[in-house]
Amino acid sequence: MKKPTPGKFIVFEGLDGAGTSTQMALLKNWLSQQDIFAEVTKEPSNGPAGVVIRQAIEERIVMTPTAIALAFACDRVDHLQNDANGVQKSLGQGSWVLCDRYVLSSLAYQSSEGMDLEWLKAINRFAFAPHVTIFVDTSIEVCVERINRRSSHNELFHHSDKLKTVRTQYQQLLDHSELTGHLVKVNGDGTEQEVFAELITQFQQWMEQSTAS
Ligand code: TYD
Repeated sequence: MKKPTPGKFIVFEGLDGAGTSTQMALLKNWLSQQDIFAEVTKEPSNGPAGVVIRQAIEERIVMTPTAIALAFACDRVDHLQNDANGVQKSLGQGSWVLCDRYVLSSLAYQSSEGMDLEWLKAINRFAFAPHVTIFVDTSIEVCVERINRRSSHNELFHHSDKLKTVRTQYQQLLDHSELTGHLVKVNGDGTEQEVFAELITQFQQWMEQSTAS
């Protein structure tokens, strides 16, 4: 399989229940059909700080919003930089990396918890911008329906009022290409295949532009 050097870093963002992991799996398959190897990963990661964060968001341990914001930033640095399986290492070896959630999640979710946006940017300053952000824009109603269908337990960020605030934060952040890289924004309310069709049309345009330049 082709491994262009260095690889591209593609990030998926959206509300809980938006369908980012489904779309990420579809993109991985599509890329492999184009002979491009892509690793898939996510944040919070499976690293040590990510494990603590999962316990906090499932409300099995209690952490303050400030501590959670710092833990997300810590997890991100480790996820990017660690020598065992860090994103930077994979990109350097020519792999493409697809990541479910990244800095924008911290800025949208933690600012909706009252954290100062500039402080959030400062603690995330080690995180470089992705080449592409794919924002799966799914309505609150559809997200809530999907969350209720799949989850048996309550999670910290799953309430519909909370999702409304997060959505507003996301909309403001999406205009900032220094954070998003190239932006692909798709309507997430359709079927998996409908959403993916819209996604891949825009993604291919970016691929053509980026190989031409
Ligand atoms: P999520 O992708 O929903 O994990 P799962 O599919 O296993 O439930 O992410 C977990 C939650 O963490 C989600 O509600 C978004 C939130 N989150 C933040 O608040 N800040 C961050 O920086 C990240 C990466 C996620």
